[in-house]
Amino acid sequence: MAGVQESAEIRDAVRQRYASFAREMSQGDCCTGGGSCCSGAAGGKEPLVVYSAEDLQEAAITRGTSLGCGNPIAAADLEPGEVVLDLGSGAGLDVLLAARRVGPEGTVYGLDMTDEMLALAQANRQRAGVRNAHFLRGQIEAIPLPDQAVDVVISNCVINLSADKGAALREAYRVLRPGGRFLVADMVEMEPLPDALRSSLESWAGCIAGALPSDRYQELLERAGFRGIAFEELHTYRGSDVGAADLRGAVASMLINASRPVDA
Ligand SMILES: C[S@@+](CC[C@H](N)C(=O)[O-])C[C@H]1O[C@@H](n2cnc3c(N)ncnc32)[C@H](O)[C@@H]1O
Repeated sequence: MAGVQESAEIRDAVRQRYASFAREMSQGDCCTGGGSCCSGAAGGKEPLVVYSAEDLQEAAITRGTSLGCGNPIAAADLEPGEVVLDLGSGAGLDVLLAARRVGPEGTVYGLDMTDEMLALAQANRQRAGVRNAHFLRGQIEAIPLPDQAVDVVISNCVINLSADKGAALREAYRVLRPGGRFLVADMVEMEPLPDALRSSLESWAGCIAGALPSDRYQELLERAGFRGIAFEELHTYRGSDVGAADLRGAVASMLINASRPVDA
């Protein structure tokens, strides 16, 4: 686990990368930084995240708006009236889709630490005419919501970016009500990464170096209190996908499903 100084360094590198992507996205030109799923259509290739044309139309935003590595909304079975929290909400696509699904009696919070992303998400929310979504500034390791405030936690390619994943998962658990669901798309390490990638801040900010093996991820989820944990592989990344060093299948995106027990 990263030390305090390293954590601050990681957070700064992550924030800078996504501030720069937000500026590009607000000019309709994301994302030239390339390098991973977190850059969406890196290298001019088709994005790996599949949202239907109806989804995108519904959210009134464009395909380049996702920097995720899966589609947690498709698996979340959201019900009208539910309260949802999106960890690392970026430009807000998943928040806007969730807001439509939970309806006017439901609420969706998007949490992000990057001001430029929050501003873009607000603009996207206004354009989509969505009223039941709120964007919060803060860190996923210290969620600015009370205990047991939400029914569902979603997230899309963010927890791998945290320098303290244990804290992020404990916080997700704390804010979930008993019986609440955790549906997260994230990067997972399949094979040990080459040292040069593992120690690169750029690779961390690009959603590669911070990926945990699934057994370690599972252990942190269990320690936080989650049960019913399941990993579903979505896409194995190779150099050709991401325009970075050849990853040779060392990382994959996964859908991670878990819940807070009803009696906890
Ligand atoms: C790869 S992007 C994903 C954005 C969005 N979930 C999506 O699917 O498009 C990562 C986002 O998480 C935010 N982020 C990264 N680490 C964070 C942390 N520790 N706390 C809060 N936000 C964080 C970044 O600012 C960025 O907007």
